This record gives sequence, structure tokens and C-alpha cells, in this order.
Amino acid sequence: MAATAAIILAAGQSKRMKSAHSKVLHEIGGRALVHHVLVACESAGLSPLTVVISPGADDVSAAVHDISGKAILAVQSEPLGTGHAVQAAMPSLEGFDGDLMVLFGDTPLVTLETIEKMKQSRATGADIVVLGFRAADPAAYGRLVLDADGALDRIVEAKDANADELAIDFVNSGVLLGDANTLKNLLAAVTNNNAAGEYYLTDVVRLARVQGLTCRAIECPEDEVIGVNSRADLARAEALLQGRLRTQAMSSGVTLSAPETVFLSADTKIGSDTTIAPHVVFGPGVTVGAGVTIKSFSHLEGATLADEAQVGPYARLRPGAEIGAGARIGNFVEVKKAQIEEGAKVSHLAYIGDARVGAKANIGAGVITCNYDGFDKHFTDIGAGAFVGTNSSLVAPVKIGDGAYIGSGSVITKAVEDDALALTRSEQKQITGWAAKFRARKSKD
Ligand code: UD1
Ligand code: MG
Repeated sequence: MAATAAIILAAGQSKRMKSAHSKVLHEIGGRALVHHVLVACESAGLSPLTVVISPGADDVSAAVHDISGKAILAVQSEPLGTGHAVQAAMPSLEGFDGDLMVLFGDTPLVTLETIEKMKQSRATGADIVVLGFRAADPAAYGRLVLDADGALDRIVEAKDANADELAIDFVNSGVLLGDANTLKNLLAAVTNNNAAGEYYLTDVVRLARVQGLTCRAIECPEDEVIGVNSRADLARAEALLQGRLRTQAMSSGVTLSAPETVFLSADTKIGSDTTIAPHVVFGPGVTVGAGVTIKSFSHLEGATLADEAQVGPYARLRPGAEIGAGARIGNFVEVKKAQIEEGAKVSHLAYIGDARVGAKANIGAGVITCNYDGFDKHFTDIGAGAFVGTNSSLVAPVKIGDGAYIGSGSVITKAVEDDALALTRSEQKQITGWAAKFRARKSKD
């Protein structure tokens, strides 16, 4: 099969989002919309990949660059329509001889399976394959008009459609596949003589038919091709993606007792026999091993959890938190950029940042690593088997030796030797009978 290139259109205006940022940079599942499309294209092996952006869209070009080292950027000088946008990307395909798939940057849920289905349809004799769907509300979508044999005859934009055409509920998703050079030649013949005054990509179907080429529309579920044009669409796309991610997690052996309350990121990885209680949120960059328990109201981002770790309820794991095998992070504990080694316990109300907590160490309630002096971050190294008493402040940089004890309420500023006890508490005084005398005096007032 010939190589297939992809052009992703992202140069349109996004007025309905009412945002200072490009629509394609808004996120679902912790990833920009255009990121989802790029991932789908890359996993389908589409190459080269060109993203069409508007002039001055530096934020989009920077984001695309970060997402994919391979993507090429093309600038569409003015938003004159989808056909014009594809033409703007054509120079990036100079000398390319294969197929071309066009996708939209604001249509993030298209799957690898559907891309494969389109390629198969193309391999079985269609010159142009258009991805369509049955729309619950066809509204402003382009209508797919079929001929008597069921082949695709033309696409009519809603603005240009007559009453019969508007009654059609089989509509264009925007994804289209054909031979790159054929599409290029067809696009050269597209005019802007229509209701919108735009160069429609969809006109290539009508023009192809005139040349005797075969056009076919294949169908996918509407959920895969909803376009994001407003904040409400963004929320709907998020909900659909979450549904997909939860199903994937459960089918790979993860227990979600209330899946609708667990929020995942597109890159969340969770091992089998892990149990996630209700109301847990996974930001980007989380990897969870097998047999892990994550209790309710925990928030994880950029964290790695080894097998059999236990986290929550109400835990916050921030980027760089590495929780070792069987380690425990309890309620109201925040961990940032720190290794909590195998079997260590941080059971309640602690902040561990820029630190290592050695294997089987025990960190008491209220322990804080004082890692920041207003300018720099400093490291706290806590040895294996150490016991840090409640309410201690560890002023970094500082090292606590293996097996050392820190007395409760200490402020530790100097290194503590292995197996030593360190405490900075002032000595306790007792004044016998003071309280009784105090009460007696007060009761006379
Ligand atoms: C388009 C299709 C319509 C289809 C619908 C599916 C055309 C003419 N119409 O309509 O058949 O049912 O999508 O959602 O293709 N863009 C550019 N430059 C432009 C114009 C658009 O890059 O000059 C990009 C947009 O950023 C967006 C995509 O192309 O990613 C679609 O543009 P949009 O204006 O939303 O097209 P629709 O009117 O929705
Ligand atoms: Mg649209």
C-alpha cells in the first residue's frame, strides 16, 4: 500500500470558544485537541504530517513542535476555506507520491480503527473516501448526497443546500482520503462561488465525479467525529473521551468502582488489579503499577506508583512523585519531586518535596520538608528505616541517616547520623498544683 500523508487543518477562527487561545490548544484528557489528532495520525503511520495554522499562531506552532518532532507547519495566509487551507499545505508534499488524508484539528476523537477503515476502502477501489456519520442533529454539517448505487455523488454545505438535501442526516465529518496528486489537481479547480464565499474542500467530490472518479462515504459513530466549536462541545468531547478511557482501563484489569467519577488523562497508565475508589483525578503523566490501591479524593499528576502502593484518601501527588512498591501515602499528604522508597510510610498530613524517603522509613503526621528559601529548592535525604516524629520541620538541604530517630516537634537543620536520635525540643517543665490554684483563683472572681 502507498504511503499516506496527513494534513491537519487548524487555521480557522474559533470565535465561539471566546478564548484568547487557539481552539486546537484547548485540552481534553489533559492533552490539546490537536495533540489527539496528531497521536491518531502517528499511530496510523501517516507521514509526512502537516499542520495548517494561521499567521502569527506562535502558540500553536510551539505546541505542535513539542507534541511531535515530525510535524511540519504550513501557514494559511487568510482563512478562505478548508480547500484553500489544504492548498496552503501542498508545498510540504512536493515530490510526495502517495495518498493524502485531511483531518481537522478540532475533531479530536477519531480513532486508529476508523483511519484504517478509510485506508482499506481506498485500497478496494475508491479514489476518494469521505468519513461520514449519521448526525442526531445535522444542523450545519455538509450533507453527503449518494447516487442510486450508494456511491458518494457530492457534498453540499448546509448553507448551499436545498430542502431535500437538508433533510439528509448522513453528513460529512471532514476527514477525507485520496491520492495526493489527484486531490491537488482537483483543488486547483475549486472556486469560491458559494453561499459562504469560501474555497470548500468538499467540492473535490463533485469535481472528481465529473472526471469519472469513484467517491465513497464510509460511516463511523458520531461520537468519534464531534467537532469542538464551543465550550459546551469541549465538555461533551471530554465526557466522550473519559468514557473511552474508563472502559479501556477496566478492560485492562483495573477496578473502578464508580467509573463515572474517575477522571483520567489520555496518557494515564494503570496496571492490572489496581483499584481506584470513587472521585480520583489523574492529571497528565501518571503511571501506576499493578495491585495498587488509590482511595477517594486523591489527585495525581506526573507521578509514578510502583506495585502494591497505597495512596489516599485525599492524597496529592505532584510531578516527580515516585512511590515505591508497597509504600503508603495517606490522607492530606502532598508529595512533589520525591522518591518514597519501597515500604516507606507517610500516613498523614505531611509535605514531602525535593526529597528521598528511604525504604521502610516512617514519616509522622505534620512533618514538613522545608525545601524552598524563596529563591532555590533544596534536597532532603531521609535514610532507610528512619523515623521522623510528628510535626518536625526538616530544613533542607539536610540529611537524616539510616535508622535515625527525630523527636517530635524538632526543627532539623543539621545532618543526623545513622541510628542517632536528634531532637531540638525545649525541655518540659512542670509546676505541681498550678492548674488547681488557677481554677480556684478564677472561681472567686
Ligand atoms: C466543515 C465541512 C463540512 C463538515 C464539517 C464537519 C467544508 C467546506 N465543510 O464545515 O462539510 O460537515 O466541517 O465538522 O469543508 N479551517 C482552516 N482554514 C480555513 C477554514 C477552516 O484551517 O480557512 C479549519 C478549521 O480550523 C477547522 C476545520 O478547518 O479545524 C473545519 O473548518 P470549519 O470552519 O469548522 O468548517 P465547517 O463549516 O464546520
Ligand atoms: Mg466546524
